Amino acid sequence: MKNNRYVSHVYQKFEDLDIKHIEQQKNKVLEDNINYPLIHIAPEYGLLNDPNGLAFFNGEYHIFHQICPNGVEHGMKSWYHITTKDFVTYKRHGIKLKTEHEFDNYGIFSGGAVATEDNLYLLYTGNHRDANNEYIRSSYQCIAKMNKDYEIEDVNVMLEPDFNFHTEHFRDPVTAGQNKLLIGCQKPDLSGALAIVNNFDVDKNENLQLNYLENDWDLPNVYMLECPNWFTLNNQEVLVFSPQGLVAQDKYNFHNIYDVVYSVGKPSDLAQGKWSNAEYHQLDYGFDFYAPQTFVHEDEVYLIGWLGQAETIYPGETEQGWSQMLTLVRTLKLKDGYLYQQPATSYEQLRTNWITFKDRISTDCKLFELNLESNENFSLIIGNDSYQIELTRDGNEVCFDRSNMQHQVNEEYGTKRYLYVTEDYSKLQVIVDQSAIEIYINVGKYVMTSRFFIDEITFVQVKGVTKSEINFIKPIIIEEM
Ligand code: FRU
Repeated sequence: MKNNRYVSHVYQKFEDLDIKHIEQQKNKVLEDNINYPLIHIAPEYGLLNDPNGLAFFNGEYHIFHQICPNGVEHGMKSWYHITTKDFVTYKRHGIKLKTEHEFDNYGIFSGGAVATEDNLYLLYTGNHRDANNEYIRSSYQCIAKMNKDYEIEDVNVMLEPDFNFHTEHFRDPVTAGQNKLLIGCQKPDLSGALAIVNNFDVDKNENLQLNYLENDWDLPNVYMLECPNWFTLNNQEVLVFSPQGLVAQDKYNFHNIYDVVYSVGKPSDLAQGKWSNAEYHQLDYGFDFYAPQTFVHEDEVYLIGWLGQAETIYPGETEQGWSQMLTLVRTLKLKDGYLYQQPATSYEQLRTNWITFKDRISTDCKLFELNLESNENFSLIIGNDSYQIELTRDGNEVCFDRSNMQHQVNEEYGTKRYLYVTEDYSKLQVIVDQSAIEIYINVGKYVMTSRFFIDEITFVQVKGVTKSEINFIKPIIIEEM
């Protein structure tokens, strides 16, 4: 057989997993007080990747995420279900969608959700592999109906694979506008594209029409567009997607294994099937941010990303029994053609009092928020006497440097990330959570999201700032069911 990975433990079905092993993993997670986050969603055990099925339904927010319970590796993926009313207290509902059909026999891949009064419809890609034919892959676009008791009542295939239109890489359906779906796609010529499906209706799968979204983006080397999102802000259409293969274009852009981009179009671009803007921007300039999903509730556009990177094993993971986390929930605004991201205001409930400090403050805690302002070059150093991470500004350039961490990761992709800022001031909101850091610059016009690995932090030090405040925030609450 060409590849026996597909019959190994990584692809064992959920019901065949060893319960004892799962319990051991969960206990290891509970013991991790160095890296496991306190305000970011991370898995109970196993590996997490993309956020899925984001929606407001039945009076609460629903967050699903990709999970591989089989270990800290990418393998048999399912959807794990979490709900929250306020992004501060969460309920874990366990694995909600698992591989139970031939069309999804090798994983429940990513997708979005549609909320109606009575049901939450979950759109996903059934990752099928043919065990009788070298485990060749084909992708089925599926819809699962969940009721208000959060039971899955029905699962159907919406779209069968069509190899004239796409290769095996055809996944991550989300709704876009009226009766449309967007799906990430690799064309038969092996270039990346977005597919639009017309006539989508949660109740019937008839006359679905597939087209490519025409565009003039120059996406050098891109062979697949994953995890599309479409929404409107200020009456303009916005696309956010995760291209694979994009190569670095300068010192600033696209230095990670994969990065995320957005493009701002015009009203009716989607309806016309042609994106009017050839320009696109990087959405996050940190080391670890991919496959975000957006959803709209009461005119607010929310975004949650995967605070991680593909093909990456982070330090300590095998021993810790868990891998990867989601970003904080962010809200999006559009100003002068740029997306601005901010942590949802609900997180303010986690704050204690602000403490003003000058130059340096000692701490033994890795959960805090910083509020800094500067009109010149600045530096921010977080760490201990031996290991630090550092954020600096030199002229128009901001640099996040993680070259001096205690445990390194993805060094071959560089240990510094640079950002070109046009404003002559810097307003920084920095949130540190154990092994995660989210840096919002100038009210979220630029965001740098990263993991970092320093076991103990003993100080925070600043230079060149006119304002420096720290807030030792409280952890979120996770209620077990
Ligand atoms: C993005 C992605 C998606 C896919 C999922 C599988 O990280 O590759 O395209 O649906 O992960 O876990």
